Amino acid sequence: MPSRARLFRFPTVERYGIVWAFNGEEPLFDLPDLPHPEDELVVRHTVMDEAPVEPWLVAAQTMDLQHFSLQHEFTLEDDPNDAVTSTPYSMGYPLRLRLPDATRLDLRVDIHGTNIFWQTGTLDGRWFCWISALRAVRPGASRPFFVLGARPAPGEDQAATGAFLDRATRVMMGMLADDAPVLLTMRFRPGLLTRSDRALARYLQYVRRYPRAHPARDFLG
Ligand SMILES: [Fe+2]
Repeated sequence: MPSRARLFRFPTVERYGIVWAFNGEEPLFDLPDLPHPEDELVVRHTVMDEAPVEPWLVAAQTMDLQHFSLQHEFTLEDDPNDAVTSTPYSMGYPLRLRLPDATRLDLRVDIHGTNIFWQTGTLDGRWFCWISALRAVRPGASRPFFVLGARPAPGEDQAATGAFLDRATRVMMGMLADDAPVLLTMRFRPGLLTRSDRALARYLQYVRRYPRAHPARDFLG
């Protein structure tokens, strides 16, 4: 380390194959827990290409409930608008749906902070998790890091667990492919949201209220 170097040390925690850093001097919230201990999981990681969109805007698609039936052609089992819950540092809802090929997903999805998408639930009855760490690489850009996790069923061999992870990957990547054309071009304008966008409106207020921090400012340049 050169003696002139000056660094800010972000609070960090290592979990699910990621070193998580909190953008602040003290973390405002803990990383959420999954329903199963980390050492029982088989996880896979994917690093995506950089996208020209802010992480909070990528996360906004979770709260754009109308896009599920329009862009993804999901059949929702109930209207998540009525079940959205929030804390000062997270927002989410239960999501039960059927894909066009009849695959059933029964999920809980949450945004933590403004750049962590945290999904846990079942795919055709089998538990899996999908975590998207939406990294901010610079203003106006993000580079997501995905963690897909599952638990080996009792007596199941590695290949069978792998086949389930392959399937879950195809399902999630298929969703991402549906999202991409809108994700890369969307803009929000005040006054254009409708009543069906109330979860999205709530999310935009949440982001506006979310504390800003730039603790490394004094250490730069
Ligand atoms: Fe989507």
